[in-house]
Amino acid sequence: MPERIFIGVAWPYANGSLHLGHVAGSYLPADIFARYHRIVGDEVLMVSGSDQHGTPITLLAESRKVSPRVIVDQYHKEFLETWEKLGITFDLFTNTGTLNHEAVVHEFFKKFVADGTIYKASMPQPYCETCHRFLPDRYVEGKCPFCGFQGARGDQCDNCGKPLDPAQLIGIKCRISGDTPEIKDSEHFFLKLSAFEEKLLSWIQSKDHLRPDVHNFTVNYLKGGLHDRAITRDIEWGIKIPLAGYDSKRMYVWFEAVCGYLSASKEWAALQKTPDKWKDFWQDLSAKSYYFMGKDNIPFHTIVWPAILMGVGGLNLPYDVPANQFLTLEGQKLSTSRNWAVWMPEYLSNFAPDPLRYYLSLNMPESSDIDFSWLDFMRANNTELVATYGNLVHRTLTFMHRNFDGSVPDPGELDDEAKQVLQKCEAMLAEVAEAIRGCHFKSGLKSAMALAKEANRYIDGKAPWKTIKTDRQETARTLWTSMALISGLKTAFYPFLPFSSAKLHAMLGNEDAIEKAGWVWQKPKPGTKFNFPEPLFTKMEEEVIQKEISKLGKHP
Ligand code: MF3
Ligand code: ZN
Repeated sequence: MPERIFIGVAWPYANGSLHLGHVAGSYLPADIFARYHRIVGDEVLMVSGSDQHGTPITLLAESRKVSPRVIVDQYHKEFLETWEKLGITFDLFTNTGTLNHEAVVHEFFKKFVADGTIYKASMPQPYCETCHRFLPDRYVEGKCPFCGFQGARGDQCDNCGKPLDPAQLIGIKCRISGDTPEIKDSEHFFLKLSAFEEKLLSWIQSKDHLRPDVHNFTVNYLKGGLHDRAITRDIEWGIKIPLAGYDSKRMYVWFEAVCGYLSASKEWAALQKTPDKWKDFWQDLSAKSYYFMGKDNIPFHTIVWPAILMGVGGLNLPYDVPANQFLTLEGQKLSTSRNWAVWMPEYLSNFAPDPLRYYLSLNMPESSDIDFSWLDFMRANNTELVATYGNLVHRTLTFMHRNFDGSVPDPGELDDEAKQVLQKCEAMLAEVAEAIRGCHFKSGLKSAMALAKEANRYIDGKAPWKTIKTDRQETARTLWTSMALISGLKTAFYPFLPFSSAKLHAMLGNEDAIEKAGWVWQKPKPGTKFNFPEPLFTKMEEEVIQKEISKLGKHP
């Protein structure tokens, strides 16, 4: 029975290019998961979009002296190009500026106002006399009241991950003028999160398949007591409040952005001309929803969004939230302002996507922060992709092509060694599938690469370049077996290295797309013609890599 899998991926703020941290944290694991489920024949809906509202956008627009619209349009377009080149296969990547999204948010808001889940109250808000304005979220900085971290922003503490309200910061300062703001009362709408505390706690405690970090963070947070949060802001950019008299206020970005998972699903269904199809993923109780994100987004996906869904009722709660820890770069925290980052548009204009997908999968920060090192990236490319997997493919196929007339030879009866290594391949395919299903991407990839090494050992032991002079049948058996292993690897690597697997699929003489082949181990058919192979991967030169390293920390 095919499964129904909904995949929601954190919506990137449309205020800057995507970098390695975004890819390793959210988009790559989500894509591996989606590709696997699609190729096994499950029904998959993977959505996300640009997060176009909130102070991350307005602060940048103000500093560039352009309207927020200019900024979000620019980056939305760039995001779409990045997904295309990196092979991140969304079923829909939309944005939070659509009328459809606004309609879904308004519907929830009105329902909640009517049933008391949203109520009005006044809230102390920082107001800057110099700037003549209220200072929402990232317009202020100060000390975190929970962990004491200096430089916490008014929306969330970067150190302990707790969501904050601006007025909670200690020693608060306006980020524009540097002055200490006054605290003035302002009327806002509050989401009654407190009403969901117990329900959320028993829901999360029943989920023993969650990653320990996600589970612990959420349980601790809930045990600290869940407070109602303001879900409107004194700001002029964002989704309007669907009630008269609130023109100077907008929806809080986090309240509306998470609703994007549902609105995007509805938009996708409408675009497919099956407007009710979103229900298959949101109302069918056997459908499972997975949410991929970096650890700073955990509370919004394990508390705020589930609370909203519980409040609305009749919609599936998250099944799993496999959030990742952070990626560091050459031993240091990523930083946009210091340009300590690898930007995707730049990477993709200089390098192929698969080596990065490989290295980030191998170093996915699943349970702790993990470092990206350019030289180690080069090593992984040169020794694992080029010298192990690529070489296995190349030597097998070129040798077979030359000696067997460009077609697959008949292996005759298989010997024990062939049977053994083929059995290992069978086991590897099961292991990879199991690992991906459990969101253990790193271990899935390692199983596949271990088999590539094993396959090389098998060929080395059999030395077909020697046997070709003495025993043609034995040579045919070795090469056929090796090609069978390559075909298994092509499938196992597909979710991780889709471009290389597609190329290899064609090289093995297949005419259809690899996506059509399914998660099936196709054994080579004797007599199949194939073209003389091209290399799957390219060696990287240290010079080129040093050039990338030298860009870090400098502004172009
Ligand atoms: N824009 C947020 C960030 O970059 C993520 C929003 S995820 C959503 O941290 F679910 F709220 F949309
Ligand atoms: Zn903190």
